[in-house]
Amino acid sequence: MIDEKKRESFGSRIGFVLAAAGSAVGLGNLWKFPYIAGRNGGAAFLFIYIVIIVCIGITAMMAEVLIGRMGRLNAADTFEKLGGKKWKPVGLAGILCTFIILSYYSVIGGWIVKYFFMSFTDLIEQAGAGKTGEIFGAFVSNPSQVIFYQGIFMLITALVVLFGIKGGIERSCKIMMPMLFVAMLVLIIRAVTLPGAMAGIEFYLKPDFSKVTSETWLAALGQGFFSLSLGAGAIMIYGSYLPKTENIVSSVKQICFIDTAVAFLAGLMIFPAVFAFGAEPAAGPGLTFITVPTLFAKMSGGVVFAVIFFLLFFVAALTSSISLLECSTGYFVDHGMDRKLATLITAALIFLTGIPSAYSLSGGLKIGSRDFIDAAGYLTDSIMMPLCSMFCCIFVGWILNRELVKREATSDGKIGFGSFNIWMMMVKFVAPAAILVIFFTGLKW
Ligand code: PHE
Repeated sequence: MIDEKKRESFGSRIGFVLAAAGSAVGLGNLWKFPYIAGRNGGAAFLFIYIVIIVCIGITAMMAEVLIGRMGRLNAADTFEKLGGKKWKPVGLAGILCTFIILSYYSVIGGWIVKYFFMSFTDLIEQAGAGKTGEIFGAFVSNPSQVIFYQGIFMLITALVVLFGIKGGIERSCKIMMPMLFVAMLVLIIRAVTLPGAMAGIEFYLKPDFSKVTSETWLAALGQGFFSLSLGAGAIMIYGSYLPKTENIVSSVKQICFIDTAVAFLAGLMIFPAVFAFGAEPAAGPGLTFITVPTLFAKMSGGVVFAVIFFLLFFVAALTSSISLLECSTGYFVDHGMDRKLATLITAALIFLTGIPSAYSLSGGLKIGSRDFIDAAGYLTDSIMMPLCSMFCCIFVGWILNRELVKREATSDGKIGFGSFNIWMMMVKFVAPAAILVIFFTGLKW
């Protein structure tokens, strides 16, 4: 095991905040959030989502960062060090979870790379001729192309992780996160100034409390956990590189704020354009790869906006994928392997594991009624992440020594005694119970 003193760390608090926010901000924010909000009562959903992030998301993320920083090792060894051998499987499950997520996340990352390149050439022209559905269909049903671009995406991810925490992850996130904001801002300004944009803003934001049911709360809870990258060990490993002198509480609040702000802004970027051009509001790949290019074809300067759009998606996916890769790489580095070798080996293994996902959309592999890629997503998002996150909360609330937790959380005295007690109540009872509820209500294999 590596000497703790020699272990790498982030160079600054802002570096940690941007890297963790980069992990959180991803396809969950850009793909899923606007659609779920639009369908679940607009501003009413937003209100519920914010309540959940403030009450449960921040609580659970603090628990994860805190465990990471107390253990100062990868998830598996951290759990063993702090809780004994019987807790190690929880950490191992977290690492396995990031491994599986990245196996399919990299496939979608590859699609984005392909579309980024295509937007420089003939994507918009083809979209103008109404061919986006055909192009997308032909691309995803051609496994060798999909695997080729998946490989490129994995290679770029590995290239960042290869350079370590400060030189690779922190430095790239400090450049990419501001880039992401600027790209979003440009696209939002374009979208909301289109004639007819108001109808989209209304669909997205008109508060409709009649649509709020218990399902809405569950949808918000599930979306919040995925979006904040909770329960996958990614935030925990970043926490393990956070210097002891930095404040966990304010960092976590900032990360959650950035993630929620980006999710909210994603809706302002998408819906005004969808409604202005009379398209169907949809979620996921259909919207990104089929609908959006047709919208750009109808705008003047569409090629430029398409390039910015796919760059935005690429950056969002890449800052998430590097956190996913670091989770497994960190395990081998902690066990004494050279970082470069560890990165290349884990990246190669994850790439190979992703191949069935890359194949599955050509009509081939299925597990039960689901395409392989959906089944992998279901296993991680609906089963592994909620359960691991619940165990993190239980671990902090019930297993770790309360005084040590308090000292770790309040190392610079920035959380008052009252709020510490409230947080302890949340982490002991409310968060695990809420997670169990989403878990059992949401489970539909
Ligand atoms: N939070 C990321 C997103 O919104 C996904 C992710 C989950 C990343 C778990 C890392 C770990 O897309």
